[in-house]
Amino acid sequence: VKICWLLSIYPMKNEFPLGLSYDDVLLEPKYSVIKSRKNVSLRTDLTKNIEINLPIVSANMDTVTESKMAITLAQMGGIGIIHRFTTLERQIEEIKKVKRFTNYIIDNPFTLFPEQTINDYEELTADTGINGFPVVNKNGILMGIVTRRDVAFQTNKNKTIKEVMTPQPKLITAKPGISLEEAENLFSKHRIEKLPLVDKKNKLVGLIAAKDIRKTISFPDASRDKRGQLLVGAAIGVSGDFMERAEKLIKNHADILVLDIAHGHSALAIEALKTLKKKFPKQEVIAGNVATPEGVKDLIKAGADAVKIGVGPGSACTTRIVAGAGVPQLSAVLNCAAAAKKSGVPIMADGGIRYPADVVKALAAGATTVMIGNLLAGTDEAPGVIINKSGRRYKFYRGMASFGANISRRALDTNDDNLLYDNLMIEGTEGLVPYRGKAQEVIDYLLNGLRSGMSYNNAKTIKDLSKNAKFIRITENSLKESHPHDLEKT
Ligand code: XMP
Repeated sequence: VKICWLLSIYPMKNEFPLGLSYDDVLLEPKYSVIKSRKNVSLRTDLTKNIEINLPIVSANMDTVTESKMAITLAQMGGIGIIHRFTTLERQIEEIKKVKRFTNYIIDNPFTLFPEQTINDYEELTADTGINGFPVVNKNGILMGIVTRRDVAFQTNKNKTIKEVMTPQPKLITAKPGISLEEAENLFSKHRIEKLPLVDKKNKLVGLIAAKDIRKTISFPDASRDKRGQLLVGAAIGVSGDFMERAEKLIKNHADILVLDIAHGHSALAIEALKTLKKKFPKQEVIAGNVATPEGVKDLIKAGADAVKIGVGPGSACTTRIVAGAGVPQLSAVLNCAAAAKKSGVPIMADGGIRYPADVVKALAAGATTVMIGNLLAGTDEAPGVIINKSGRRYKFYRGMASFGANISRRALDTNDDNLLYDNLMIEGTEGLVPYRGKAQEVIDYLLNGLRSGMSYNNAKTIKDLSKNAKFIRITENSLKESHPHDLEKT
């Protein structure tokens, strides 16, 4: 009796909760009325106020997401987060590249004056890569348009634009409010490539290019802002110049800011988030990373519009073996999603995705999006070159707290060549990942798995998936059974 009494006031210290990873579970198949995998919707909440058509987000890492990756992801319906391990100017340039990509209404088109020459045309073409320009007078009134066709066979490069342009009375123009469909009709009816937009006084107020319309139409699921430009996110830290970075990124139309540090459940992160949301209350901010319900609640209280979950599951992470901190990712997502449910703030599962099934499990556990590093780092759209090694192709991938990334960051912060690299926080590693071709193929592979997983769970939507999911814990033997076995290698 005495022992029992003692135990009740001094509970056993080794009664720990169990933490599970994606590999520790499967989803029990359910009676399903889904006739085809095509009949499921992958539309999901990215933040409180932004929905996207696919639950895939590319990681804000310097070997994963710059403009190329962000463009591909957004065209397919997901989103990329441009990393912050570079100068502010370069980060902004990457945002601008995404925004310019399908700018189906160009607000400030490049223009020429009638008095300029073919030489000027050629110079502007070489600088911008653009072949046709509206011609305006000093007051911005549209006078004509000059395209490659107009100058192609001109030998006298000193001829004025006025002499070669198509002049205004012959031009097809439109009002600024024209819809995508109306613009498309004008392009095919008149076989033109550029459509200047003018106000009542014939002042040039914008331009639509046929090329951009084609890009827009061929990606119906693309993630777009109100102006038809692709959505893009940008990462920021929590100290130093983070507010200046945030302000400039917002000014340059970053749709989402990702306030991202390794230990997001910290006074530093919470204060930074509060400051950010106080100054920019309308800006959507995803905050992280945390791995506990308390972390989620504190970030939501501080103003997060979505919370990023994951301490240590990433393929290039060493946090768990260096600091001993972390929560196995499936449990982290399950617990955090439950904690966020009432508030309606979405959860992003960040790191540890190795198979399509992991995406299914993360969303079934309550996340609305998954963030991916490793699987996308091997694609053409990730920064970096293809490396040939022993007849196989690879790309380089590194954790953002790896030795290499630490050194690059220090070099960015200072011009001192005689740096002493002390006090480095190494909680990540680096290595080669198999070259995987186009990012679209990797994403399609993940999404086909997801659609299949949804049909096994009788889930027409991602919300249904988390509602219907019934996890079953498995043993090491079941894991062996799950993977291919008893086959000779071909
Ligand atoms: P995957 O598994 O897709 O994970 O490669 C990508 C995520 O890993 C996180 N990350 C790190 N975590 N040390 C860490 O502990 C690092 O150096 C590091 N770099 C990236 C990050 O959350 C990313 O999205």
